[in-house]
Amino acid sequence: MVQTAPRKLAVIGAGNMGNAIAILFVAHGWQAVLIDPSDSSREKSRERLFAALPQSASLLSWEAGLEAAHDAGLIIEAAPENLSLKQEIFTRLEAVCVPDAVIASNTSGISINQLASVLKHPKRFLGTHFFTPADVIPLVEVIACEHTLPTHCDHIMAVLREVGKLPVLVRKDIPGFIGNRLQHALAREAMSLLEKGVASAEDIDTVAKWALGIRLAITGPLEQRDINGLDVHHAITEYLYPDLENRQTPLPLLSNKVGQGHLGVKSGKGFYDWTTPERKAALKEKDATLRQLVELLGGRQAASGG
Ligand SMILES: NC(=O)c1ccc[n+]([C@@H]2O[C@H](COP(=O)([O-])OP(=O)(O)OC[C@H]3O[C@@H](n4cnc5c(N)ncnc54)[C@H](O)[C@@H]3O)[C@@H](O)[C@H]2O)c1
Repeated sequence: MVQTAPRKLAVIGAGNMGNAIAILFVAHGWQAVLIDPSDSSREKSRERLFAALPQSASLLSWEAGLEAAHDAGLIIEAAPENLSLKQEIFTRLEAVCVPDAVIASNTSGISINQLASVLKHPKRFLGTHFFTPADVIPLVEVIACEHTLPTHCDHIMAVLREVGKLPVLVRKDIPGFIGNRLQHALAREAMSLLEKGVASAEDIDTVAKWALGIRLAITGPLEQRDINGLDVHHAITEYLYPDLENRQTPLPLLSNKVGQGHLGVKSGKGFYDWTTPERKAALKEKDATLRQLVELLGGRQAASGG
């Protein structure tokens, strides 16, 4: 059982995900230190967290060096998605953290076994894949590496439930885990439809949101197949599967946009123009709307087993 430095979290990487993960834990009474070598990331993080948690300043701290993780019982790495960078962080972390600290990576899909391969003590290492915004979306995928002690998995699942999350154990360390495999299959098909000129970006997204998305919140893809009838589904797969997008490299539509610097919200333009007042307003309201939806659908109750 993990007992040292309980309820002290070290977050490695104070970017988008690291900040939201810290907000979640601190809102549940944990102490958190955010570790990031970038002065500007730490500064932005301070601003965001003070605004989100005005009453909790005493539970928060920011540091540049990994030594600050020395007494944390739980360490969640949310540094950039780069295998060698993450492995270097884990090697250095092992030298400073307490022996019974649990070390988790928020990688979007890099193999947990590959990340763990540099560790001397991989039995306390696992993946905790949060979905953005991490302080709002209930689900977290928990992925063990081949050496992770089951007690550490149980402990992390319990901790995640305690902070209001709905953890799911991914039984195989497979690229993209579950969520990103499903998400990327849908996104690849959506981009393919746009590339083929089947419909506009707005119309493709409207179908995804108002036909599939709204139903997906209530019935998952397997439940929905049972409801529709497996015989019906089987008949459709016979003519549809051969026609679905299955290219193995990024679609030219996507590569061209990235090549032109059209990266989406962060550059102002992607499939949409994010600089218009309407889109800016929608983006500003997005997290609050998602939070209302989670409340309405009872995601929090699901997380606590209610
Ligand atoms: N953005 C998402 O939607 C999302 C969702 C799930 C998982 N993830 C994963 O979470 C991780 C972080 O993603 P993000 O979107 O927060 O990225 P981000 O770019 O917003 O933040 C990364 C932070 O890491 C810091 N950093 C760089 N080198 C570091 C080092 N050596 N030590 C500590 N910090 C360092 C950067 O200064 C930056 O503040 C990635 O692995 C990503 O794949 C992202």
